[in-house]
Amino acid sequence: MRRKLAAGNWKMNGLSGALAEATRLADAHPAPRIDILICPPATLLSRLAGALKGSAIAVGGQDCHPADAGAHTGDISAAMLADAGAGHVILGHSERRADHGETDEDVRSRVRAAIAVGLRVIVCTGESGAERDAGETLAVVGAQLAGSVPDGMTAKTLVIAYEPVWAIGTGQVPTPDQIAGVHGFIRSRMIRRFGEETGQGIRILYGGSVTPDNAARIFAVADVDGALVGGASLKASSFSSIVRALEASV
Ligand code: PGA
Repeated sequence: MRRKLAAGNWKMNGLSGALAEATRLADAHPAPRIDILICPPATLLSRLAGALKGSAIAVGGQDCHPADAGAHTGDISAAMLADAGAGHVILGHSERRADHGETDEDVRSRVRAAIAVGLRVIVCTGESGAERDAGETLAVVGAQLAGSVPDGMTAKTLVIAYEPVWAIGTGQVPTPDQIAGVHGFIRSRMIRRFGEETGQGIRILYGGSVTPDNAARIFAVADVDGALVGGASLKASSFSSIVRALEASV
């Protein structure tokens, strides 16, 4: 049985006042039946880890540099994330791929660096609107999986997120059939690559305009093991509704 995961990606949002949203969420879910993760901006990471210590909510980073340390102004290493209290890191988000030109190879080296210091990774995949229109969705996602995910991953260390670029922050959501098609494809690729047991154990999250209103419908789709939530994770009230919807799907 795969344990479901509700992961919040705060992106470049959140000043000190946002810490209270996370502690409110923790207070609302003292013993959740699913895993809950918040990935705040790096500036809040250690304070959030401190504030959530002893709670059921884990914290993670949104990116890391592939090198251990060195002359990389503005970057953050995987060891620094772990040192700040992160247990997870999101890698290869489409905004990183678009804003910073991260390639599949870049993502793969970041995954290796993260795993080396004991972080669990959420590797993001997803097609653009033009790619979907051209019927290239599975080819794009397949290439991202092949290129971004290194060998030797386990169900404990790897989570895949399917986040169609056209659905992120737009309010547009794929149909359940469209989600099922891609998640089933990702599942089959993971089984082919890592074997039946590991492939069945790897969690696959859906991301892109998940809200309290559409969460239950999305969580009912086969091979959806949770969500990567942007905008709706910023407020404890809306993220809490999504957490409850995921718990209800178990
Ligand atoms: P959204 O973002 O929920 O605001 O669409 C999701 C994501 O980019 O992870």
